[in-house]
Amino acid sequence: MTPVLDIRGLSKGFVLHHLGRNLAAFDDISFAVADGEFVLIKGANGAGKSTLLRTLYRSYLPQAGQILFRSDHGPIDLARAADVDITHLRRTEIGFVTQFLTARPRVSAEALVAEPLRLAGIAPDRALTEARHWLRTFGVKAALWPAYPTTFSGGEQQKVNLARALIRPRKLLLLDEPTASLDAGARTALVRRLADLKARGAAMIGVFHHPDDVAHLIDRVIDLTPDAPSQEDRHDVVV
Ligand SMILES: Nc1ncnc2c1ncn2[C@@H]1O[C@H](COP(=O)(O)OP(=O)(O)OP(=O)(O)O)[C@@H](O)[C@H]1O
Ligand SMILES: [Mg+2]
Repeated sequence: MTPVLDIRGLSKGFVLHHLGRNLAAFDDISFAVADGEFVLIKGANGAGKSTLLRTLYRSYLPQAGQILFRSDHGPIDLARAADVDITHLRRTEIGFVTQFLTARPRVSAEALVAEPLRLAGIAPDRALTEARHWLRTFGVKAALWPAYPTTFSGGEQQKVNLARALIRPRKLLLLDEPTASLDAGARTALVRRLADLKARGAAMIGVFHHPDDVAHLIDRVIDLTPDAPSQEDRHDVVV
């Protein structure tokens, strides 16, 4: 089966105008990810892990390389796709989970979480019921469901963020330290949800500050530390 994602010769750097030079975040990366496969990205601070995930999500444009994604509508190179196609894929097939919630003024927690289902055409009542289920699962107390998350604590915002990002199964999930600042209950709920999505065929590429949390899910490790072997089989590696 064709991999869901086939990354070839991907390079990304930043122009530091005030210094008049380029800074390479990562250079000439190639790897493929199959359905249901979980790839852990590791590397020191500043190794380019977040930049790689943002480039795959097309928040950044790479300088070189291809990101071939097997979408439901056929193969597409995310490095070159039109913005309108990227927007559509983000709504349907590609999810991105960070530690930060983009809360919107005067939108309740439950409405924010239900939104991905409503955009997928699910009836408002059902979307709201599902949203409450996931808020409860991640440990957001019921009194907060109709409130605005702009005033929530960091951990509460993150739980809303997870509920919103994971309410709808995706073909490809990009995870950038999703467990940072979560309490134990929410971490367990998150790992259980990831395991369930993986079992249903979702491919995942993730950065985890404490990879022990997801050790049983990891199929492969890619090390972005310069001069590290580019990939290691799960059984060779201590994470
Ligand atoms: N928008 C940007 N403009 C300029 N430089 C950037 C930008 N984003 C990231 N960088 C630089 O790229 C390098 C990689 O950053 P990145 O955030 O990808 O690292 P990381 O591996 O995720 O680190 P951490 O473990 O600290 O999260 C860093 O040296 C950073 O300073
Ligand atoms: Mg990072």
